[in-house]
Amino acid sequence: MAPVCFDMYGTLCDTGTAADKLADELAVSEALVAQLDTGWRTKQLQYSYQLGMMEEYRPFWQVTRDALDYTLSRFDLDPDQETRLRIMAGYEQLSPFPGAIDALETLRDAGHEVAVLSNGNPAMLETLAEDAGLAPHLDAVISADEVETYKPAPVVYENTADELDADIGDCRLVSANSWDVAGAGSAGMETVWINRLRDPFERIGPEPGATVADLAGAEAILR
Ligand code: LAC
Repeated sequence: MAPVCFDMYGTLCDTGTAADKLADELAVSEALVAQLDTGWRTKQLQYSYQLGMMEEYRPFWQVTRDALDYTLSRFDLDPDQETRLRIMAGYEQLSPFPGAIDALETLRDAGHEVAVLSNGNPAMLETLAEDAGLAPHLDAVISADEVETYKPAPVVYENTADELDADIGDCRLVSANSWDVAGAGSAGMETVWINRLRDPFERIGPEPGATVADLAGAEAILR
Protein backbone atom coordinates (compact mmCIF):
# COMPACT_ATOMS: atom_id res chain seq x y z
CA MET A 1 0.00 0.00 0.00
CA ALA A 2 1.03 3.61 -0.55
CA PRO A 3 3.47 5.03 2.00
CA VAL A 4 2.12 7.97 3.98
CA CYS A 5 4.58 10.65 5.15
CA PHE A 6 3.69 13.14 7.85
CA ASP A 7 5.35 16.48 8.39
CA MET A 8 6.43 16.85 12.02
CA TYR A 9 6.49 20.48 13.22
CA GLY A 10 3.01 21.96 13.09
CA THR A 11 1.46 18.77 11.67
CA LEU A 12 2.01 15.87 14.10
CA CYS A 13 3.37 18.10 16.88
CA ASP A 14 2.22 21.52 18.00
CA THR A 15 4.99 24.12 17.81
CA GLY A 16 2.79 26.36 19.91
CA THR A 17 4.07 24.38 22.88
CA ALA A 18 7.42 26.11 22.40
CA ALA A 19 5.65 29.38 23.30
CA ASP A 20 5.07 27.97 26.79
CA LYS A 21 8.85 27.72 27.23
CA LEU A 22 9.29 31.33 26.12
CA ALA A 23 6.70 32.35 28.69
CA ASP A 24 8.29 30.22 31.43
CA GLU A 25 11.83 31.40 30.79
CA LEU A 26 11.41 35.10 29.94
CA ALA A 27 9.69 37.49 32.30
CA VAL A 28 7.77 39.29 29.54
CA SER A 29 4.13 40.02 28.75
CA GLU A 30 1.80 37.52 27.09
CA ALA A 31 1.59 39.80 24.07
CA LEU A 32 5.37 39.81 23.69
CA VAL A 33 5.52 36.02 24.07
CA ALA A 34 3.08 35.76 21.14
CA GLN A 35 5.23 38.09 19.04
CA LEU A 36 8.41 36.21 19.93
CA ASP A 37 6.79 32.89 19.12
CA THR A 38 5.58 34.05 15.70
CA GLY A 39 8.86 35.83 14.98
CA TRP A 40 10.89 32.74 15.92
CA ARG A 41 8.93 30.38 13.68
CA THR A 42 8.90 32.83 10.77
CA LYS A 43 12.65 33.38 11.01
CA GLN A 44 13.28 29.63 11.29
CA LEU A 45 11.41 29.03 8.02
CA GLN A 46 13.02 32.02 6.34
CA TYR A 47 16.50 30.77 7.24
CA SER A 48 15.70 27.29 5.92
CA TYR A 49 14.52 28.72 2.57
CA GLN A 50 17.40 31.19 2.48
CA LEU A 51 20.06 28.55 3.14
CA GLY A 52 18.56 26.44 0.33
CA MET A 53 18.78 29.34 -2.10
CA MET A 54 22.30 30.15 -0.97
CA GLU A 55 23.18 26.46 -1.42
CA GLU A 56 24.46 26.33 2.11
CA TYR A 57 23.41 23.94 4.82
CA ARG A 58 23.34 23.82 8.57
CA PRO A 59 21.24 21.38 10.62
CA PHE A 60 17.73 22.43 11.58
CA TRP A 61 18.61 22.56 15.29
CA GLN A 62 21.18 25.23 14.46
CA VAL A 63 18.71 27.02 12.15
CA THR A 64 16.17 27.02 14.98
CA ARG A 65 18.78 28.30 17.44
CA ASP A 66 19.93 31.02 15.03
CA ALA A 67 16.30 32.06 14.53
CA LEU A 68 15.78 32.20 18.31
CA ASP A 69 18.90 34.32 18.81
CA TYR A 70 17.83 36.68 16.02
CA THR A 71 14.31 37.03 17.41
CA LEU A 72 15.49 37.69 20.98
CA SER A 73 17.88 40.32 19.72
CA ARG A 74 15.15 41.88 17.54
CA PHE A 75 13.11 42.44 20.70
CA ASP A 76 16.13 43.64 22.73
CA LEU A 77 16.19 40.58 24.96
CA ASP A 78 19.48 39.03 26.03
CA PRO A 79 18.92 35.98 28.25
CA ASP A 80 21.98 33.91 29.25
CA GLN A 81 23.07 30.76 27.39
CA GLU A 82 21.45 28.39 29.89
CA THR A 83 18.09 30.12 29.45
CA ARG A 84 18.42 29.93 25.67
CA LEU A 85 19.18 26.21 25.92
CA ARG A 86 16.13 25.63 28.10
CA ILE A 87 13.95 27.46 25.55
CA MET A 88 15.45 25.35 22.76
CA ALA A 89 14.74 22.19 24.76
CA GLY A 90 11.06 23.01 24.25
CA TYR A 91 11.52 21.99 20.64
CA GLU A 92 12.16 18.42 21.75
CA GLN A 93 9.18 18.40 24.10
CA LEU A 94 6.33 19.49 21.83
CA SER A 95 2.87 18.06 22.39
CA PRO A 96 1.42 15.83 19.70
CA PHE A 97 -1.79 17.19 18.19
CA PRO A 98 -4.96 15.30 19.20
CA GLY A 99 -5.41 12.23 17.03
CA ALA A 100 -1.73 11.97 16.04
CA ILE A 101 -1.13 8.50 17.46
CA ASP A 102 -4.55 7.24 16.32
CA ALA A 103 -3.87 8.41 12.76
CA LEU A 104 -0.48 6.68 12.64
CA GLU A 105 -1.84 3.47 14.14
CA THR A 106 -4.97 3.27 11.98
CA LEU A 107 -3.06 3.85 8.76
CA ARG A 108 -0.48 1.30 9.76
CA ASP A 109 -3.16 -1.24 10.60
CA ALA A 110 -4.67 -0.56 7.18
CA GLY A 111 -1.33 -1.64 5.67
CA HIS A 112 0.34 1.68 4.88
CA GLU A 113 3.97 2.31 5.63
CA VAL A 114 3.91 5.36 7.91
CA ALA A 115 6.82 7.79 8.11
CA VAL A 116 7.78 11.24 9.30
CA LEU A 117 9.29 13.48 6.65
CA SER A 118 10.73 16.57 8.26
CA ASN A 119 13.28 19.33 7.94
CA GLY A 120 14.34 18.50 11.51
CA ASN A 121 17.76 16.87 11.81
CA PRO A 122 17.77 13.23 12.91
CA ALA A 123 18.76 13.78 16.55
CA MET A 124 16.03 16.35 17.23
CA LEU A 125 13.42 14.27 15.41
CA GLU A 126 14.30 11.10 17.28
CA THR A 127 14.17 12.82 20.66
CA LEU A 128 10.83 14.45 19.87
CA ALA A 129 9.30 11.27 18.40
CA GLU A 130 10.23 9.40 21.60
CA ASP A 131 9.10 12.17 23.94
CA ALA A 132 5.76 12.65 22.14
CA GLY A 133 5.09 8.90 22.12
CA LEU A 134 5.08 8.73 18.31
CA ALA A 135 8.20 6.58 17.82
CA PRO A 136 6.58 3.15 18.35
CA HIS A 137 3.95 3.98 15.71
CA LEU A 138 6.35 4.97 12.92
CA ASP A 139 8.03 2.77 10.31
CA ALA A 140 10.58 5.44 9.39
CA VAL A 141 11.77 8.90 10.30
CA ILE A 142 13.18 10.61 7.22
CA SER A 143 15.09 13.85 7.56
CA ALA A 144 15.93 16.48 4.96
CA ASP A 145 19.39 16.31 6.52
CA GLU A 146 20.04 13.21 4.38
CA VAL A 147 20.30 15.47 1.34
CA GLU A 148 21.54 18.54 3.23
CA THR A 149 18.89 20.93 2.06
CA TYR A 150 15.32 21.70 3.09
CA LYS A 151 11.76 21.16 1.97
CA PRO A 152 10.32 22.37 -0.36
CA ALA A 153 13.37 21.47 -2.53
CA PRO A 154 12.24 18.56 -4.75
CA VAL A 155 15.31 16.49 -3.88
CA VAL A 156 14.02 16.10 -0.31
CA TYR A 157 10.76 14.51 -1.50
CA GLU A 158 12.59 12.45 -4.15
CA ASN A 159 15.01 11.12 -1.54
CA THR A 160 12.03 10.17 0.63
CA ALA A 161 10.51 8.09 -2.16
CA ASP A 162 13.90 6.38 -2.64
CA GLU A 163 14.18 5.71 1.09
CA LEU A 164 10.71 4.18 1.09
CA ASP A 165 11.51 2.21 -2.06
CA ALA A 166 8.43 3.63 -3.74
CA ASP A 167 7.59 5.67 -6.82
CA ILE A 168 7.19 9.30 -5.86
CA GLY A 169 3.69 9.32 -7.35
CA ASP A 170 2.69 6.56 -4.92
CA CYS A 171 3.86 8.49 -1.84
CA ARG A 172 1.47 10.69 0.11
CA LEU A 173 2.48 13.72 2.14
CA VAL A 174 0.25 14.94 4.94
CA SER A 175 1.17 18.42 6.12
CA ALA A 176 -0.39 21.41 7.80
CA ASN A 177 2.24 23.61 6.16
CA SER A 178 0.81 24.81 2.85
CA TRP A 179 4.29 25.53 1.44
CA ASP A 180 5.20 21.89 2.15
CA VAL A 181 2.04 20.63 0.41
CA ALA A 182 2.85 22.84 -2.60
CA GLY A 183 6.44 21.54 -2.66
CA ALA A 184 5.50 17.87 -2.34
CA GLY A 185 2.81 18.20 -5.01
CA SER A 186 5.24 19.94 -7.32
CA ALA A 187 7.77 17.13 -6.79
CA GLY A 188 5.11 14.57 -7.71
CA MET A 189 3.67 13.32 -4.40
CA GLU A 190 -0.02 13.00 -3.64
CA THR A 191 -0.90 15.49 -0.91
CA VAL A 192 -3.31 16.02 1.96
CA TRP A 193 -3.38 19.49 3.49
CA ILE A 194 -4.46 19.87 7.10
CA ASN A 195 -5.94 23.35 7.10
CA ARG A 196 -6.65 23.92 10.79
CA LEU A 197 -6.88 27.69 10.45
CA ARG A 198 -9.05 27.78 7.31
CA ASP A 199 -6.37 29.62 5.38
CA PRO A 200 -6.45 30.11 1.63
CA PHE A 201 -4.12 27.74 -0.23
CA GLU A 202 -0.85 28.99 -1.74
CA ARG A 203 -0.86 30.62 -5.15
CA ILE A 204 2.13 28.53 -6.25
CA GLY A 205 2.36 24.75 -6.58
CA PRO A 206 -0.40 22.28 -7.36
CA GLU A 207 -3.58 22.36 -5.27
CA PRO A 208 -3.67 19.72 -2.51
CA GLY A 209 -5.19 16.36 -3.46
CA ALA A 210 -7.44 16.73 -0.42
CA THR A 211 -7.97 19.35 2.27
CA VAL A 212 -9.06 18.35 5.76
CA ALA A 213 -9.51 20.11 9.09
CA ASP A 214 -7.37 17.89 11.30
CA LEU A 215 -5.42 14.63 11.64
CA ALA A 216 -8.62 12.62 12.05
CA GLY A 217 -9.75 13.99 8.69
CA ALA A 218 -6.47 12.91 7.08
CA GLU A 219 -6.81 9.48 8.63
CA ALA A 220 -10.38 9.09 7.32
CA ILE A 221 -9.36 10.00 3.75
CA LEU A 222 -6.22 7.87 3.59
CA ARG A 223 -7.48 4.79 5.37
C1 LAC B 1 8.99 20.04 9.27
C2 LAC B 1 8.64 21.48 9.57
C3 LAC B 1 9.53 22.48 9.08
O1 LAC B 1 9.58 19.78 8.23
O2 LAC B 1 7.33 21.73 9.42
O3 LAC B 1 8.67 19.19 10.11
